[in-house]
Amino acid sequence: MNQERLCELAKKYSVTSTQDFSFEIAGANGPFVRDSSGKRYYDFHSMVGTANFGHNHPQIRKAVRCFVREYGVFHIAGNDYPHKWMVELMQKLRYVTPINFGKKVFLSNSGTEAVEAALKVVMDYHFRNDPKRTIVLVFRGAFHGRTLGALALNASKEVHRRGFFQSGPPLKIIHLSFPDINTDADPLAELKDVPLEKVAAIVFEIVQGEGGINTADPERMAALLNFLRSVGVLIVPDEIQTGMYRTGTLFACEQYGIEPDIICLGKSLGGGLPIGATVIEEGLDFQERGRHSNTFGGNPLICVAASQAIEVALNLNKTKLERNIRVLSEFAPEGLGMMRRKRFESVEARNAYMAKALEKGVLLIGSGEKNVRFMPPVNIENSLLSEAIDILRTCD
Ligand SMILES: Cc1ncc(COP(=O)(O)O)c(C=O)c1O
Repeated sequence: MNQERLCELAKKYSVTSTQDFSFEIAGANGPFVRDSSGKRYYDFHSMVGTANFGHNHPQIRKAVRCFVREYGVFHIAGNDYPHKWMVELMQKLRYVTPINFGKKVFLSNSGTEAVEAALKVVMDYHFRNDPKRTIVLVFRGAFHGRTLGALALNASKEVHRRGFFQSGPPLKIIHLSFPDINTDADPLAELKDVPLEKVAAIVFEIVQGEGGINTADPERMAALLNFLRSVGVLIVPDEIQTGMYRTGTLFACEQYGIEPDIICLGKSLGGGLPIGATVIEEGLDFQERGRHSNTFGGNPLICVAASQAIEVALNLNKTKLERNIRVLSEFAPEGLGMMRRKRFESVEARNAYMAKALEKGVLLIGSGEKNVRFMPPVNIENSLLSEAIDILRTCD
């Protein structure tokens, strides 16, 4: 089937979503994707942040192949039955995540599910301990997923819905200004209008991905979070996009001195396969069996891929990474680590830039209203990064 026909059929069959239907991807390797004619493109957004170590990483591919060769394709519902691949992944997650006390892990299938689990932990914990805390603080420009209230529909077991889960999330959301490095916004000052004794948690990105690659000012962020922690608010960074070395450290939290109570992970953690993970301080854990679960969380093959992705992260060549950050930040000064942006005057100008880049062999994705994000694999060869940037320089 030729590319044009395939895109036509995809458009006909797919529910309207985020696709642009102009480009078929037929394969991917390292920092490249290719179309069905064999033309190669730099994947300059690492497939929306899912391939921070490049596509088809040899170590991850090898682990997946060995698993399939030995065990075949099967599923174990990890939240119902333990298995060694899940325990190994949990051990690694407990080792790498920057939570100070004992930790527990919930495995799921996507970022949005990781955030849902975090919200349920927060709600259940406060329902048991301080039920007036029903406010969740978030920043303007935030993006945390797309799920909508399946829990509210349930009518089978009481344990699914008791307490705060009765009619879907009863949470009240209060938006604060993001402490953007490029603005003077001071969310701490905005708290004077917030009834702090009712605040349950703050959920936030350190670099807002969908929101435009907006980077938090470390001092204002720390001041806000330290204050919130002192008044009993749970600190919940969403590192689904910023994690796995995207910003230059394994988690962006580490650069900001943030100690999470709960951390949400996904995207590149799966090494190319779908995953979500919610790591929590163990004192926050649910107290009843069945309060939260799912069917596909802890799939053995995915656990194998994610365990290897963590190994790849732990063995990353830091010298190469630092050089990549230097080169990318010279080209695109705004952002953090390997998560950077270019701003445009209009949507049309942004889209024209992206179209030109695609034509010349660099795949880009937008961010915010008028920005483009630059997020090549963090381990891309230095020479290839420079080559891709040289192409982008000709696209203005
Ligand atoms: C920061 C952040 N949180 C959550 C999500 C949702 O992840 P998923 O699309 O895997 O549900 C995304 C996805 O882009 C994200 O960037």
